[in-house]
Amino acid sequence: MKIHITETDQSRISEVDFKNLQFGRVFSDHMLEMVYRDGQWQEPEIKPYGPVEFKPSMQALHYGQAIFEGMKAYHVDDETIHLFRPKDHHRRLNNSAHRMCMPKIEEEVFLKGLEKLIALDHQWVPKERGHALYVRPFMFASEEYLAAKVSNEYRFYVITSPVAAYYSEGFNPVKLTTSEKFVRAVRGGTGEAKAAGNYAASFLPAKTAQKKGFTQVIWLDAIENRYIEEVGTMNIFFLMNGKLVTPELTGSVLPGITRRSVITVAKDWGIDVEERRVSIDEVIESDRAGKLEEVFGSGTAAVISPVGLIHHDGETIRLDEEKIGPFAKKMFDTITGIQYGKLADKFNWTHPISID
Ligand code: COI
Repeated sequence: MKIHITETDQSRISEVDFKNLQFGRVFSDHMLEMVYRDGQWQEPEIKPYGPVEFKPSMQALHYGQAIFEGMKAYHVDDETIHLFRPKDHHRRLNNSAHRMCMPKIEEEVFLKGLEKLIALDHQWVPKERGHALYVRPFMFASEEYLAAKVSNEYRFYVITSPVAAYYSEGFNPVKLTTSEKFVRAVRGGTGEAKAAGNYAASFLPAKTAQKKGFTQVIWLDAIENRYIEEVGTMNIFFLMNGKLVTPELTGSVLPGITRRSVITVAKDWGIDVEERRVSIDEVIESDRAGKLEEVFGSGTAAVISPVGLIHHDGETIRLDEEKIGPFAKKMFDTITGIQYGKLADKFNWTHPISID
């Protein structure tokens, strides 16, 4: 497979304040672009990051055929960068593509494209622990056509961004509330796909929650409005009664790659992990009985995010006096230790990228 590379003659890296990074505000020098037409993907190209030309009739703008992924690359040492579980992200991208009637991408093309792009912009991978290069692959329907039909043309891009913590709280606990009025997804819908529209639909409820002082919404199922599904940008875990409980993947929950990593690590520690339906009432009752030890979220951007407070229907659960719990801290240290190459990668999750 050939990747044509055009390097920029004007790097923007000296304009970046690596000491004060935010999430997703600055973008590295290059991007990968690949076009799908006549029933196949054309050769990928790496070029300077910059404007992309499209017409206002482009289908993605009208009917929302658009999906994405989010993964991270970590600085290990001056010769090595680790990409975390890219094959799992590739599989999920193709599952999202299937649900949204979009073309799949070969694993080899995906991996080689990422390796070349990240190696070329290796200086953009932040060196500070806690920071990483966020890698955003995304695909959208690009045919110029106003019929509400499956597009015949697509574009696939990968852009990268040096980032700090996703939440402004950093590693401090976030505050969550259920939504009285809205739902995120229903079984049979697009909830388990990483479809752009799922996020758009969550903005109004998230904004309402933020106005009331909460960080994000903790979503309940759309049918009975009782069972916990996930949080705005992460999956969720409850340490209750000595067991780690997380909502099962019912079809309306995003199958998080960090979620899967947390389950694997916890089982490896000998913890009982239950992937099952967990209702908000069960969580409240467990808290009342003094059996709710910790709550935390997991996600690529969020990493491990402790939850300090959950509000539901007039009830408020306060966890660990809104401090980071020891289990969440140990999980954070273990997963990031593997990601930054400081702990043995016994699960074979890291994908080293060599810088030539
Ligand atoms: C990620 O964790 O990578 C996500 O996709 C969440 C995103 C909305 C920031």
